[in-house]
Amino acid sequence: MGAIILWSMTTPKILVTRLIPTPGLLLIKEHFQPDVWTPDQPIPRDELFQRARGVDGLLCMLTEKIDDELMDAIGPQLKVISNMAVGVDNVDIPAATQRGIPVGNTPGVLTDATADQAFALMMAAARRVTESERFLRAGKWLNWSPGLLLGADISGATLGIVGLGRIGRAVAQRAQGFNMRVLYHSPNAKPAPGARSVDLDTLLRESDFVSIHVPLKAETRHLVNADFFSKMKPNAILVNTSRGGVLDQTALYHALKEQRIFAAALDVTDPEPLPMDSPLLELENCIIVPHLGSATRQTRDKMALLAAQNLLAGIRGEHLPHCVNPQIYDREKNA
Ligand code: DGY
Repeated sequence: MGAIILWSMTTPKILVTRLIPTPGLLLIKEHFQPDVWTPDQPIPRDELFQRARGVDGLLCMLTEKIDDELMDAIGPQLKVISNMAVGVDNVDIPAATQRGIPVGNTPGVLTDATADQAFALMMAAARRVTESERFLRAGKWLNWSPGLLLGADISGATLGIVGLGRIGRAVAQRAQGFNMRVLYHSPNAKPAPGARSVDLDTLLRESDFVSIHVPLKAETRHLVNADFFSKMKPNAILVNTSRGGVLDQTALYHALKEQRIFAAALDVTDPEPLPMDSPLLELENCIIVPHLGSATRQTRDKMALLAAQNLLAGIRGEHLPHCVNPQIYDREKNA
């Protein structure tokens, strides 16, 4: 009896904000008795505040805003925030760093899936796949015609990659298999074989496809705006698999509506979900899918496992396998 009481007093309190794939959940359950939010929708903010109060570890999704106010409510015992995503724009990193809390993310394991999605969207927009399927289902396919639903060539075209991180590089690699010329704009990035570094204006002036791969930060919010579109070719196609906030959707709407660019394909929007009255949904030349870049079974299993490993390491006081604010460890060293 005494041992049970001691265990329940000392066992770390963990909140997992969604039913994550089994490999991650099993690892967590081997070590803790986590509180898991099981409905298949984001945990409401007031519920999050209530359940997170007093936890030692938080495993969260990109759907939760983890800000200063929440960290205050959780309390000073919080040892780790593990985000099941590579992007961490939903977490106030300076606030966590200031408290000495490591924040984990899940890079690497979703690189290929997200690059595949960027390529799938690029091809779908170039060949008007969703538009032509709607056309067929509406009973408009009356005969083969030399001019029916003509799209854009991919082979031999120029692809401009904005942000040459892991995913941007994987897109560049795929483009070579399609015999594309690849340009990139990414200050301080290591060169990528077969791709040429150029300034942003040159990239926009010369690219037939522009694929966005920058994280959302204050400096990248609305990086893709009216000025950006005005520099693109009229036949160009924009693909965004990064974050919705990187793109000014009103500017995109005008660029597409007035055919200043050929088409766009978005995996991400701002806000998410995209309201059904968004004018973007009226446009035939805009493909929008519901944030599915990493949505393959194997990738999500790996993301869940990595998020669980980050959580476990944080609770044990070990360095997280993937930490976005490692400077907290330098501070420990120098203390
Ligand atoms: C991420 O990881 O940041 C993606 O957007 C979701 O997989």
